[in-house]
Amino acid sequence: MNSRYDWITKEMSELAERSLERSLPLITPDSEQSGKTIWIQGEKLLNLSSNNYLGIAGHPRLIEAAKQATQQWGTGATASRLVVGNYSLYHQVEEQLAAWKGREAALIFPNGYMANVAAITSLVGRGDAVFSDKLNHASIVDGIILSRADHYRYRHNDMEHLEHLLQKHGNARRKLIVTDSIFSMDGDHAPILELTRLRDQYDALLMVDEAHGSGVYGEQGEGLCHALGVHEQVDVLMGTCSKAFGTYGAYICADHILIRYLLNKSRPLIYTTGLPPATVATIGEALRIIREEPERREQLRRNGDFFRHALTDAGFTLGTGDSPIIPVYVGENQHALEFSRQLREAGIAAVAIRPPTVPAGTARIRFSVMATHTIEELDWAIGEIARIGRELGVITS
Ligand SMILES: Cc1ncc(COP(=O)(O)O)c(C=O)c1O
Repeated sequence: MNSRYDWITKEMSELAERSLERSLPLITPDSEQSGKTIWIQGEKLLNLSSNNYLGIAGHPRLIEAAKQATQQWGTGATASRLVVGNYSLYHQVEEQLAAWKGREAALIFPNGYMANVAAITSLVGRGDAVFSDKLNHASIVDGIILSRADHYRYRHNDMEHLEHLLQKHGNARRKLIVTDSIFSMDGDHAPILELTRLRDQYDALLMVDEAHGSGVYGEQGEGLCHALGVHEQVDVLMGTCSKAFGTYGAYICADHILIRYLLNKSRPLIYTTGLPPATVATIGEALRIIREEPERREQLRRNGDFFRHALTDAGFTLGTGDSPIIPVYVGENQHALEFSRQLREAGIAAVAIRPPTVPAGTARIRFSVMATHTIEELDWAIGEIARIGRELGVITS
């Protein structure tokens, strides 16, 4: 082999030795469109790893919307939105999103990763300070690094620590507090009310990533900030369409002036091609389903409660919170991988999450329930999870 790659080979061996090498499993969707079963390398599995919380990723209305948009507008945007890639569908859907979130305006981005990078790099730079929860998503961390602002990480959900940092670095030019609303690998939620209070007290901007809250919380799925009645006090309300929406893309909802500013400053929006028309159409259609069908959210809540309580009763250590994300903490990477492998043998898709996605020593199985799971399916899965957990010594009961 080419000796120029020796260091890569060495690093890959080290990753493998530490059970940290990743690979791409080959997935085939099931013909049944609820998304709750998938095929991985020829085996049919109950899907307990999906972010398709409401089970609408294969909904006939989304598929139809994609077909019609493709027929009308073609397959690609063909340019940046600021050049000739900005067809009228974008504006219709942005108006829908802003109205839903109860904000003046919305801006669609290619995906959640880019929306986070775009917002943070536009709003802060050298001489500014960003205060970010230690468990925030990697796209927030990357946005802060790219922004060149000073990066202060507060202990997870620790408002005293945040306040201490805000006091200590109070003379920064601009201050931005940023948090996930629902933490993607832990399933718990941020203390949003306290964060709005600190925002006001320290004259900072507040950005909340509702990737896992949108579609799931709020009467019409508006998100956790809305459910708590503070959606107007969050300066940057970000959400993705890759999770409960069952499609792709992301958006930021905010005041007009802030959206106009982002449109002018966001490199991940300016220097990339607009989303394909089919995708934008599915965002609009998914939003209609999310608003019109609260029963999906109610079932999701019931499924989450059932799954969480049953695993707790079985003796597992879980994350706190009431979201559809229910992590079972295992500890060592190798144990988590083995747990996941045996779950797959039993007919369950549930991935092991390891560093660097989560802190070292906290490898876990991240279960996520969907509205389309039945209680019988979840009950069966819990039996298998408990059996394997006992065999591996994760639980003793
Ligand atoms: C909290 C959070 N923010 C942002 C993202 C990125 O979203 P997307 O997958 O649309 O890029 C994710 C998903 O991976 C996430 O969990």
